[in-house]
Amino acid sequence: MPLIRVYGAGPPGAAFDSIAPGVRFFAMVRRARWCFPGPMVTQLENDRLTLVEGEAPMGRLMRENYWVPFALTAHLTYEQGPAPIRLFGQNYVAFRSEDGRVALMDELCPHRRASLLLARSEGNGIRCIYHGWKMDVSGCVAEAPTQVVRPERFASGIRFAHFPVHESGGIAWAWMGGGKAAPFPDLPFAASNTTHSWITVSRMGCNWLQGLEGSIDSAHVGLLHQTWHRVTADMPDHAHLGLALDAPPRYQTDTTPYGLRAAALRPTTDGKIYVRVTEHLMPFVTVVTVGRSKPRDGAVFVVSPVDDTHHLLFFGAYGDTPMPPPEEQPGFVAPGEIPDTYNYAGLRGDRTNRWGQDRRLLASGHFTGFGRNLLEEDAAVQASMGPIVDRTKENLSSSDAAVAHVRRMLLESLDGAEGGKLPPGSARTDAPIRLPNAVEGLVEDEEHWPALVGSLAG
Ligand code: FES
Ligand SMILES: [Fe+2]
Repeated sequence: MPLIRVYGAGPPGAAFDSIAPGVRFFAMVRRARWCFPGPMVTQLENDRLTLVEGEAPMGRLMRENYWVPFALTAHLTYEQGPAPIRLFGQNYVAFRSEDGRVALMDELCPHRRASLLLARSEGNGIRCIYHGWKMDVSGCVAEAPTQVVRPERFASGIRFAHFPVHESGGIAWAWMGGGKAAPFPDLPFAASNTTHSWITVSRMGCNWLQGLEGSIDSAHVGLLHQTWHRVTADMPDHAHLGLALDAPPRYQTDTTPYGLRAAALRPTTDGKIYVRVTEHLMPFVTVVTVGRSKPRDGAVFVVSPVDDTHHLLFFGAYGDTPMPPPEEQPGFVAPGEIPDTYNYAGLRGDRTNRWGQDRRLLASGHFTGFGRNLLEEDAAVQASMGPIVDRTKENLSSSDAAVAHVRRMLLESLDGAEGGKLPPGSARTDAPIRLPNAVEGLVEDEEHWPALVGSLAG
């Protein structure tokens, strides 16, 4: 499959600049695989892509079509009681009942709005400590002791926001689309599909799309994370990862029934092509390889839209062989560090102290000066871009093709939803949704990477 250079003649951007700004973005990403000069996204497009609160179109698209990740299942315990959850700018509580089920509901009590974060755990529900109303795990008011006349009938008529919950891959997901919950997608890191895994969560102080774009973007892997990945690449069965350190990729990307497949292609010194295929289930889930496909060995990135300027990032690993926790695995966490699983990539500051960057570490040879764990590097650069990055001021380059593609897919999905069209990966789709495993390997030339995916997909 030949790559298409659209703007090969004339001064850089000359042909491009003759296109109306609102059309430029689409014109480029549809036709060009690897040449992306000039501004890419208008302010209106940036707002449509990023804003999720209230009736913002992207928030509605997410709620109406996808299971929404909101917490690590390990952090929801009966003993711990209700946990604070924030999604799309709204506050909720999640709790696990004594029999193991998980509920997600409005944070404020349906009686007179005390916070249910203060509630007691009682069997199959939680009891508000103000006047004793009890809400059960299925989202019903089970007891309303302040009502003395026909209390059961009164309680059964109370309605308040609650959502079906599904646990998969160590993450709790909510169906916020109303009606009967749609089928849950088949994920490569679900317990039924993997023998070993771990997962963490981090609170990120920026918009959800900065997190998603970080997970799609293979071009930063060999640069930003090079100090960590050199450790992994030194392990004999992860040696391919070293090839990703040597050069920025060229991309070939495709929209798929579930979202996006992005093949990052890097020539090797012996004339072959090293291919890393990232698989993305729109709009929250991405899997990438960490240097081998057989036995399987992948990394998971799942973003959760907390509000317009914050997201949760679930980060983990999975595979077919025994996998120690991150602090025991070379290339993820500094020796002696025990990461906080409630906030794995938590930064130690803000722009006033360079987000906690250790300049002495940097001067001593560490590429970034973020030496506690690999994900801290992503958190720092994403936070440094600001709460919502101004994409009108970017200058995308050829290795940003996958990022450009995912933006186009999201914008086209918003347009399609206005006409009643389901977006890629919608859980409402008739056919089951399955996210393939991410694969990597060496091929003789660029045309052969789809065959590589086919041979390793099982
Ligand atoms: S506010 Fe919760 S029971 Fe009254
Ligand atoms: Fe990264």
